[in-house]
Amino acid sequence: MTRTPIDDRCSIEVHLEAEDLRQALCRDVLAGLTAVPKSLPPKWFYDERGSQLFDEITRLREYYPTRTETQILQHHVATIARRTGATRLLELGSGTSTKTKFILDALMAAGTLTHIVPFDVCEAIVQEAVPVLAARYPGVRVDGIVGDFEQHLGRLEMGDHTLVAFLGGTIGNLIPVERAKFLNELVDQMHSGDWLLLGTDLVKDPARLVAAYDDAAGVTAAFNVNVLRVLNRELDGNLVVDQFEHVARWRPEEQWIEMHLRSRQMQEVRLGALGLDLVFAAGEHIQTEISAKFTLGGIGNELGAAGLTLDEVFTDDAKDFAVSLAFKP
Ligand code: SAH
Ligand code: AVI
Repeated sequence: MTRTPIDDRCSIEVHLEAEDLRQALCRDVLAGLTAVPKSLPPKWFYDERGSQLFDEITRLREYYPTRTETQILQHHVATIARRTGATRLLELGSGTSTKTKFILDALMAAGTLTHIVPFDVCEAIVQEAVPVLAARYPGVRVDGIVGDFEQHLGRLEMGDHTLVAFLGGTIGNLIPVERAKFLNELVDQMHSGDWLLLGTDLVKDPARLVAAYDDAAGVTAAFNVNVLRVLNRELDGNLVVDQFEHVARWRPEEQWIEMHLRSRQMQEVRLGALGLDLVFAAGEHIQTEISAKFTLGGIGNELGAAGLTLDEVFTDDAKDFAVSLAFKP
């Protein structure tokens, strides 16, 4: 781990150095692309370009989660600030922390906030977020962390009424067994009296769900194929992006959206850095993401199973999205 001070109030801690990232990518790609069916973990979408494309997704007409979660937060931040009395806000998968600013504003107004910790796997986005947050919240420490929330939760400082924010529905990008492991590790790390604010997308009309993951302008398609560009750049690959088609489908039995890349024809590709030659059959898929959709009962059960007490669930009128507030007793 390296910690680089930016000034007396800010720093960036890197738990994933370039070489660690490369090794993790090699492991995931080797395991995922030699398996049947082929798959890749969604964290590899988020290089600088992937984070920018995600930001564009959040502004799409079809992609309702971001604006709905923003409205929910705007309505309830004062309650959240009062109830938690949080001194530290630790945000997992923080991205640009755009929505989080509503919570931070409320904690500032309540006079409790002393420490902000944005945590993300994408170093570029943490580098961008830290000075922005420091400028907006004078007098507050801002320590950005570059890490993987599936690996590095054990290294995080909590206690003193830490509020962990995990927004956007990113928990839905983990399969149920990974989700349970993540929540257990998080709760192990939390102290009694720490809080979790968890954003989850809710089950709804499949047509709306599919449209949100297959927008007319093709931004989600560009986000999906971006993972192939990451592989080409990092692993000396020769994947031809145009030879893969974006697919989004609803899996009712699993209650999740799946994103895939479908090979348009039979093709042979090489990932030079791995010495790996792969054959794709025409129509063969790589699964690149799941995005689970929840019910209010299901969220309560998962939080309870991890040892948290649910305080309140905030939703919009249409019950499209939920923001749950829970604490460690
Ligand atoms: N919280 C923001 C961004 C959501 S996009 C919002 O609600 O809009 C998902 C974010 O999680 C990205 O910034 C991505 O880089 C980060 N991320 C994905 N997998 C991660 C992992 N395993 N560990 C840490 N961050 C991760
Ligand atoms: C980050 N995550 C919650 C997004 C989602 O909706 O599952 C990622 C995304 N994938 C396609 N569009 C957005």
